[in-house]
Amino acid sequence: MTPVAKALTSLGFKPVAKGMTDAVIVPEGYSAQVIYALGDPLSANVPAFKNDGTDEHFDQRAGDHHDGMEWFGLDEQGKPSRHGATRGLIAMNHEATTDEKLSSFFIHANGGTATLPRPTAEVDKELMIHGLSVVEMRKQGDRWAYNPASGYNRRVTTMSEAAIHGPARGSEHLVTRFSSDASKVRGTLNNCGAGPTPWGTYVSGEENWFGYFHRDAKDDTARKGDKQVQALNRYGRKAGAASRHGWESAGQADQYARWNNSATGASAKDDYRNEMNTFGYIVELDPYDKAQVLRKRSALGRMGHENVTFSPVEPGKPVVAYMGDDSRGEYMYKFVSDALWDAADASNRLAAGDKYLDKGTLYVARFKEDGTGEWIELSMKNPKIAGHAAFQFTSEADVAIFTRLAADAVGATKMDRPEWGGVNPRNGEIYFTLTNNSKRTAETTDAANPRYYTDKKGSKEQKGNVNGHIMRMAQAQPADVNFRWDIYLFASEAGADRSTVNLSNLTDENDLSSPDGLVFSKATGICWIETDDGAYTDTTNCMLLAALPGQLGDGDAKALKYGDKTVTTYAGKPQTPATLKRFLVGPKGAEITGICETPDGKALFINIQHPGENTAMADVGNPANYESQWPANIGYGAGKRPRSATIVITKNDGGLIGA
Ligand code: FEO
Ligand code: CA
Ligand code: CA
Ligand code: CA
Repeated sequence: MTPVAKALTSLGFKPVAKGMTDAVIVPEGYSAQVIYALGDPLSANVPAFKNDGTDEHFDQRAGDHHDGMEWFGLDEQGKPSRHGATRGLIAMNHEATTDEKLSSFFIHANGGTATLPRPTAEVDKELMIHGLSVVEMRKQGDRWAYNPASGYNRRVTTMSEAAIHGPARGSEHLVTRFSSDASKVRGTLNNCGAGPTPWGTYVSGEENWFGYFHRDAKDDTARKGDKQVQALNRYGRKAGAASRHGWESAGQADQYARWNNSATGASAKDDYRNEMNTFGYIVELDPYDKAQVLRKRSALGRMGHENVTFSPVEPGKPVVAYMGDDSRGEYMYKFVSDALWDAADASNRLAAGDKYLDKGTLYVARFKEDGTGEWIELSMKNPKIAGHAAFQFTSEADVAIFTRLAADAVGATKMDRPEWGGVNPRNGEIYFTLTNNSKRTAETTDAANPRYYTDKKGSKEQKGNVNGHIMRMAQAQPADVNFRWDIYLFASEAGADRSTVNLSNLTDENDLSSPDGLVFSKATGICWIETDDGAYTDTTNCMLLAALPGQLGDGDAKALKYGDKTVTTYAGKPQTPATLKRFLVGPKGAEITGICETPDGKALFINIQHPGENTAMADVGNPANYESQWPANIGYGAGKRPRSATIVITKNDGGLIGA
């Protein structure tokens, strides 16, 4: 195991109360500072952000909807250093935008255009506020600041060139007008969770990319005989599907036309019928090298990727990674590299290069009723895939591109929306947040997704697994195909019934809904849990909690009854504020997401995503009606429009966060 630098045995702070103020609340003795918000310049040549809808140059500014991020240290001279704790780079996802009726309304002067066709000037901005950024951060005295003039600062957008790696490279299903040999693509989109590789690069998951594509109503007919019609339906794009922003409507120029994923030309070389197949991957970025293009790692499958997290590496053993596909009823995956870990690569990302993520075996999880489970191989070696009647797989490229269909073929377990995965550095156990699932029914409950209930709030009623849970898995060796599991935590409101809903005995100090971000600190061993909640936001804004989890099997079996059906599940030990405590509550309308720390554990970076997202587009220009005015309301930047932003949290005595 990777040793935790200073493994905590208790949480040293007073819990933060639930609340609905338009502010970031941290425990007594801690400070939070905004350091990097939507629109902030990433070049000395770009003007300050006016935040009134007239700003330009978004390819050289912070993007929108800050999500997953990771710290990459620098030494005092500005050279890469894994120990750098006062100067470093943060690589970050800019997942999406605050939008209504096609328009990302806070970045347009009048809220933008809600009808088709979208004006090119608006689309040009929206294309640039998605993607990734790399930004240099520095601590001077007690204060942190980003450096707008750093030579490391970088944006990757929906239009940046990227390389296809792994089995999908060269596939007929990736041939586009842009790349007739299916080797390169443009852009990354809807990047959600993120993390580091064992060799010190950044990996990020492309999540809800499919929603950005338009399909003509008659596209199924135009594609007669194309097996992809089935895949397009499975991946959420039926013929006639409208795109989220209408980018394809802005003109015939290639940067607009590519968002129409329809067969309009004579062959795939003449149109963008395969464009959707160029998204849905884990992407790898070298944060220290702007010249290195983004790499799409197709060996890790194509889905609604949240993040990818690695087991602690051991010399001479394969590198093993875990991934969730965040949609209702989707699956959990594992990748085992063919290459064996060379410890020298931990400090040599250039030598690691493409060694670990291009060749290996992809698996999908099946959970059994007895608390065990199995990783099922997804490859042409599995007769259930090679001989699958409903969809003809002909190559490993097909498995890499149409991964969801391969997982369907082998009977994997349909989960309650797998979001972030994390691995406990103390014992190698794997954690996955299953955020919630409004489509779970009593009939489809199973041991691993056992809750179905009704949550009533006045006139609002939600059914299913309303609040989500956190799965925990253990394996004798990371590459094993067998695992054991239990449910570490059942998210719940404190007042809910303790025999059917609040199975972890949560109280006012630690109750939560919809766990999403989950990262273990390598400095302290704390498991940080972030929420993205639609069911508790009538009572509290989203939050960050700190946990000191036990280990698999530390709780009891629980029986849940649905009519004649009894589901037996395995709950982790009941929680108390000693093991789980609320650390932060965010501003109005914001999700708490993205989390990383300096290697000394003394600075914790958190992303506040989409404050004020419930503002009506019609109210743009009328600040009194904004749901949130954060972070302008604490003096950060111009204007009053709310902005997604990175904050840094420090302890006032300079100590470890959470101790
Ligand atoms: Fe982008 Fe699954 O949250
Ligand atoms: Ca998420
Ligand atoms: Ca979420
Ligand atoms: Ca969100």
